Amino acid sequence: MKSFAALCALVALLPSVSAQAQQWAQCGGIGWSGATTCVSGSVCTKQNDYYSQCIPGTAPPPATTANPPATSQPGTPTTAPSSAPTAAPTGGSPAASNPFVGVTPYLSPYYANEIAAAASAISDATLKTKAASIANVPTFTWLDSVSKIPDLGTDLAAAKKLQDSTGQKQVVQIVVYDLPDRDCAAKASNGEFSIANNGQANYENYIDQIVAEIKKVPDVRVIAVIEPDSLANLVTNLNVQKCANAQTTYLACVNYALKQLSAVGVYMYMDAGHAGWLGWPANLGPAAQLFASVFKNAGSSPFVKGLATNVANYNALSAASPDPITQGNANYDEIHYINALAPQLQSQGFPATFVVDQGRAGQQNLRQQWGDWCNIKGAGFGTRPTTNTGSQFIDSIVWVKPGGESDGTSNSSSPRFDSTCSLSDAAQPAPEAGTWFQAYFETLVSKANPPL
Ligand SMILES: *[C@@H]1O[C@H](CO)[C@@H](O)[C@H](O)[C@H]1NC(C)=O
Repeated sequence: MKSFAALCALVALLPSVSAQAQQWAQCGGIGWSGATTCVSGSVCTKQNDYYSQCIPGTAPPPATTANPPATSQPGTPTTAPSSAPTAAPTGGSPAASNPFVGVTPYLSPYYANEIAAAASAISDATLKTKAASIANVPTFTWLDSVSKIPDLGTDLAAAKKLQDSTGQKQVVQIVVYDLPDRDCAAKASNGEFSIANNGQANYENYIDQIVAEIKKVPDVRVIAVIEPDSLANLVTNLNVQKCANAQTTYLACVNYALKQLSAVGVYMYMDAGHAGWLGWPANLGPAAQLFASVFKNAGSSPFVKGLATNVANYNALSAASPDPITQGNANYDEIHYINALAPQLQSQGFPATFVVDQGRAGQQNLRQQWGDWCNIKGAGFGTRPTTNTGSQFIDSIVWVKPGGESDGTSNSSSPRFDSTCSLSDAAQPAPEAGTWFQAYFETLVSKANPPL
């Protein structure tokens, strides 16, 4: 689901003027009309059909994988990261209006059932017990098709019952994820609607159905992450034809979602990629501009709390030391990214706070390239959801991605195959996005950090 955006990051923002492309600049790809040769000392190297890049060296990198790994550094990779690693983030307590405070996340029975089935398939007794304990960790329910919306109704009704019987206010956590031409820069998570075929109207109907369910159970709180990858793709991937074509529709659809869901009191965090995507210094300004304008165009609703980062990704909130793949970006983890972005949002009138996905961020230094996102080998469950975040900007650490569900298939014959899922750092064989990946789940359990 994560796009290859990071590799396009800087280039999308800089005009290409010289006859020879600079080191790390784009030098080819579908629709590319700029220079196709690189300055001396670098070689034009194909990353994917849409993007070739000038990589330092005199020959292409060795073909260790079926597809050349993407390169995520647009900076000056020969220079050491400019900022030294810091200790745990400092800051005040969560904002007074933090919607995660005073509520208990409702545990999705769907995920609990997946976990129960997964645990029962494990023979090692210790691992089985640890695996079963994941059923008590709140995750988000992905409403990735209209057919999932009745499940929201079921969850809301059950949460209301629990709330009434225990006196403990419940919150149902959802991901709104059904834009037409979804996942415009990758393939694994293509959705059910297309812009060409009535997509915007279908999307508005999808939102209306969610709103109708919420109206039936008005006193259970709902917190939503809005459309992973969509707006971030508009910051860096407009050189991908499908993203350029989707821009107007994405903005209209997200505007509709924010307005309609605000009207029924849903607290929202728009997806903002991660440190290795919008966290590159050149992308921060354009990202802040886009998110602030989306916020203001939707009426500056207090229910639009801010942004979600690292959704389904693997970055640490606060890395002990920078992963070598982050070289060139001082914002090498989520706390650096958030601390850099939040003031820019504020100065543009968006007092954003954040949620950060740490569901699969327990282990670091696993990836060959920062842009790799598919079923990364060796990943472990990360910090459990908490409002004790250590940052004034972060409302809660969350688990948005239900760990154990696949990011995408490694079957190259599948129509939804994305080559990222067959890179050497991707666990294989992997089933289709969203379906259960037992071997991967077992690794997440055994590599959990903190341990289970
Ligand atoms: C791979 O995908 C193709 C096309 O969907 C399917 O026919 C085939 O059975 C799949 N192979 C595996 C090993 O799942």
